Amino acid sequence: MMRSMRHTWEISTASSGPEALGILGREPFDVVVTDMRMPGMDGAQLLAEVKKRYPEIVRIVLSGQSDREMILKSVRPAHQYLAKPCSDEILKSAIERSCRLKDLLAKKCLKQLVSRIDSIPSLPDLYLEILEELESPYTSIHKIGSIISQDIGMTAKILQLVNSAFFGFRRHISGPTEAVELLGLETIKALVLSLQIFCQLDPARLNKFNLERIWLHSLATGKFAKIIATAEKLDRVTVNDAFMAGMLHDAGKIILAVNLPKVYQETIKSAQSGEVSLVAAERQTFGVTHAEVGAYLFALWGLPFPIVEAVAFHHAPQSCPQQELGILTAVYVGNSLEKLLHEGEGADWQPDQSYLSELNVLHKLPVWQALCHQSVAEGGEHGA
Ligand SMILES: [Fe+2]
Ligand SMILES: [Fe+2]
Repeated sequence: MMRSMRHTWEISTASSGPEALGILGREPFDVVVTDMRMPGMDGAQLLAEVKKRYPEIVRIVLSGQSDREMILKSVRPAHQYLAKPCSDEILKSAIERSCRLKDLLAKKCLKQLVSRIDSIPSLPDLYLEILEELESPYTSIHKIGSIISQDIGMTAKILQLVNSAFFGFRRHISGPTEAVELLGLETIKALVLSLQIFCQLDPARLNKFNLERIWLHSLATGKFAKIIATAEKLDRVTVNDAFMAGMLHDAGKIILAVNLPKVYQETIKSAQSGEVSLVAAERQTFGVTHAEVGAYLFALWGLPFPIVEAVAFHHAPQSCPQQELGILTAVYVGNSLEKLLHEGEGADWQPDQSYLSELNVLHKLPVWQALCHQSVAEGGEHGA
């Protein structure tokens, strides 16, 4: 399938997992594409090994639909799944997308910036424990609840949040098991990650940065992204990823605000004076934007590829190599609609019309807007 690309890419093929590992040991590679079912070492085992030995290599798995749930349940050894049968166009574009994102995150100024940063949130152990528990055939909501309850700090934050007006439950939720039951595991997973980012960092270092506003904005963007993905009947995994990407999309702002408080404050101020957008001001100051900083963190955390991509391009969806209605669209529109709702019609937060018309969805914008507004009016029960 990839023969036509042999002048553009250097391609090696292997007929088994061990042979692939042998080739990887001899020279550097950017991307590995593997089948799932192979004799001896299967695709998941191969990718787990690749992840361990060469974490920077992008991992793509080609698999039958029946394997999908199984792979998703494992600790996501792959960045991306492609269903078989898969056309050469889809495979080519998946590889190109991965390389584009990899290049974006490998930018010299991003690396330089990250080297100036001393406080990068770590992937919460609790998140990994939940993922691991999900692998077990004997898992239950009760078990997940009891894993969460062992982390007292996180439990308190989750309960405070689910009992807040944002979720709008009429009764008081008293324990993590009940929270998992009512919100669903995917929402809980997204909350664990975002609470980690918002709470692990020292608020005393934030200067005048408005953390509360970003938190509410992130929650609402996650909710809106989920509403849009649901309205478009995207599959369950995509809907959940849209929620998570929406919750996490502005994490880069927090990393910048905590680590470089003075410089970032000045950057925000210069943007507020109205001459340039925040993203343009960030690029002037740091050479990169909060979108790329956030995506860098999530790539480091090994979050699913479409989430990293949506975070990376949430201010420039047209730069994304893959132009399709998906997680990025949901997050981009959700982000804009939340800004519009919060800052009023005067603010320049209308989603880019040319992007939406190229996707053939411009006419859907009023419908999405109505659904999002309705969810706000009714309180939380819709979205999250
Ligand atoms: Fe943003
Ligand atoms: Fe945002």
